[in-house]
Amino acid sequence: MRATRIFILIEEKHRIRERSPSTAVSPNENEDSTEIFYMTLRTLHRTSAILITAFAIVHLANHLASLSSVASHITFMEVARGIYRQPAIEVLLLFCVAIQVVSGLRLVVSAWTQRRGRIAWLQAIAGAYLGFFLLAHVSAILFGRTVFNLDTNFYFAAAGFHVHPYQFFFAPYYFFAVLALFTHLGCALYWQAKSNVARKLAITLPILLGSVIALLIVLSLAGSLKPVEVPEKYKAIYPGGK
Ligand code: HEM
Repeated sequence: MRATRIFILIEEKHRIRERSPSTAVSPNENEDSTEIFYMTLRTLHRTSAILITAFAIVHLANHLASLSSVASHITFMEVARGIYRQPAIEVLLLFCVAIQVVSGLRLVVSAWTQRRGRIAWLQAIAGAYLGFFLLAHVSAILFGRTVFNLDTNFYFAAAGFHVHPYQFFFAPYYFFAVLALFTHLGCALYWQAKSNVARKLAITLPILLGSVIALLIVLSLAGSLKPVEVPEKYKAIYPGGK
């Protein structure tokens, strides 16, 4: 029984390695407890990624709605909040964010010396940035809601673009967050693709799409597409924002 279980684990590890060098984790194939640990970690990472990605699709669509008008963004958000602000769903989402950050960083660090190839490194770098972003972003949103007692809508994100010099931080911060999300998912698709053409498309299309969406959202927040008047109470959270 035990021998069969170890065999299955080693088989699974080889299968994963063939698909993704970035996921090679343990140098010692006999340590089945280490294997179980990393397989569980990877399963957790993928499972929480599904919920976070579903939320991110709605969330980014919500930000794209601001291309039409800030009012459209806010109306969209009110409807979406009816779902993701349900206490059970919000707690699950925040729990998934915590799992994603911790498991992602563990996977990035543990496979550091075994990682080979550009895609594996791209996946790790995009994932590490996403981990940093999610931690900072969700903390800022919760802080804005509880400490500043603000409605964390479009204006909360836009305020940073309208108090000098914070736009130099927020433009790349949001741009690379969206790009990192699409790149990270593109890398995951890359390992699943069967042909060279499919692999090229799996990585190129998400990066192109992510760049366009990221640029549109950042330009919209900065008021470069349509004039944006950020209420003073949002600007006041920044030193120098009055
Ligand atoms: C340009 C990009 C982004 C902007 C401007 C932005 C802005 C915001 C804002 C304003 C909120 C508050 C929403 C509310 O109060 O209902 C929020 C919440 C959140 N965002 Fe983002 N976001 C961006 C990208 C992302 C990405 C790429 C992810 C995930 C990969 C993400 C994950 C979250 C999460 C988990 C929350 C907390 C939801 C909650 O519990 O209320 N965001 N974001």
